[in-house]
Amino acid sequence: MLQLSTITITHFKNYDITSFDFDKRVIGICGLNGVGKTNLLDAIYYCCFTKSYFSNSDNLNIGFDKDGFRLSALFKKKEEAQQVICICRGAGKKEFSLNNVPYDRLSMHIGILPAVIIAPDDIEIIIGGSEGRRKYLDALLSQLDAEYLQQLMTYNKLLQQRNSLLKRFAEQGKTDDTLLQVLDMQLLPPASYVFEKRKIFCSELRPLVHDFYHQLAANKEEVKFTYESKLLEENLESLLNKNKEKDKILQRTNAGIHKDDLSFYLNGQVFKNIASQGQRKSLLFALKLAEYQLIKKYKGFSPILLLDDVFEKLDDNRMHQLLHWVCNHNDGQVFITDTHKDRLVEAFSNLHIDARVIEL
Ligand SMILES: Nc1ncnc2c1ncn2[C@@H]1O[C@H](COP(=O)(O)OP(=O)(O)OP(=O)(O)O)[C@@H](O)[C@H]1O
Ligand SMILES: [Mg+2]
Repeated sequence: MLQLSTITITHFKNYDITSFDFDKRVIGICGLNGVGKTNLLDAIYYCCFTKSYFSNSDNLNIGFDKDGFRLSALFKKKEEAQQVICICRGAGKKEFSLNNVPYDRLSMHIGILPAVIIAPDDIEIIIGGSEGRRKYLDALLSQLDAEYLQQLMTYNKLLQQRNSLLKRFAEQGKTDDTLLQVLDMQLLPPASYVFEKRKIFCSELRPLVHDFYHQLAANKEEVKFTYESKLLEENLESLLNKNKEKDKILQRTNAGIHKDDLSFYLNGQVFKNIASQGQRKSLLFALKLAEYQLIKKYKGFSPILLLDDVFEKLDDNRMHQLLHWVCNHNDGQVFITDTHKDRLVEAFSNLHIDARVIEL
């Protein structure tokens, strides 16, 4: 069981100094546009992932005209208190501690306080470029396997070095194949680790996504997804060799796990080409709930669920099914934002959910 009891937010986005106490498992957060509902969810997300879900730079998280921000959160995990404190004094200047022990590497925190977020722009996972789908897979796998995140970070660092090297070759007008070969050899072990994990976990996700989609979608459509990676057909060493001349011309690495993707199909056709808005939303929720379910299975307790504006995304029926599943069939803590307090209160009462509703 993982639960957030208190969070104090100081100079984070639109918050000055505000504390929230969460004495229930299900928490509704209401208020008009722009009051800070999403920012509150993001502050919670930050405490779990050591970064914002929405902005890549901490400069965007610091309150306007402020020098830094501070987040302090008290979680309870399997009856044990877990105190997170994050002090950020500008981009790149961040201290993050758990129970007063500062982390040397922020990545060590990932997976300790697992969470799943569903936000309005997440529909990009279904209809946008492959980056969003890799981010989805990586968020899941990093929380389940600390080694995965380390290997992925190693791969990304080496990939950057390789790409810089390719650029330098072009600038200098001469290449050094031995140097390239050295980097290629270093890329192989982390690539292979990440590839194998992605392959295994995609097979675990597949039946879950299938089931959740069936539960959410009104009609009985067949949804399928596949893991796409060139490494499924050929090992990375030979891919890198094959692409060497192309890489030199384009000055970047054209094959590798950084190109992996997920493909979705609806009744055998490419999902994003034919799916309706509702079908896209159902698939997004199916993916996220499958993530939730897998984390729960491997951790032995439910992750925190952050639902941002999901009422806007689903019709009443689907919303009720979703709420019923997360609130009544699961024991994890759930945060739900909505601009309409009445709608939220009514949904909770219809489903007999004992929730706390906070108005911002
Ligand atoms: N770095 C920042 N410093 C101060 N204010 C910020 C910062 N970043 C964002 N904001 C403000 O936070 C507010 C948005 O908050 P948020 O996105 O949490 O609103 P919301 O309640 O989720 O609204 P909606 O219902 O429209 O989704 C905006 O007024 C925005 O200007
Ligand atoms: Mg919002």
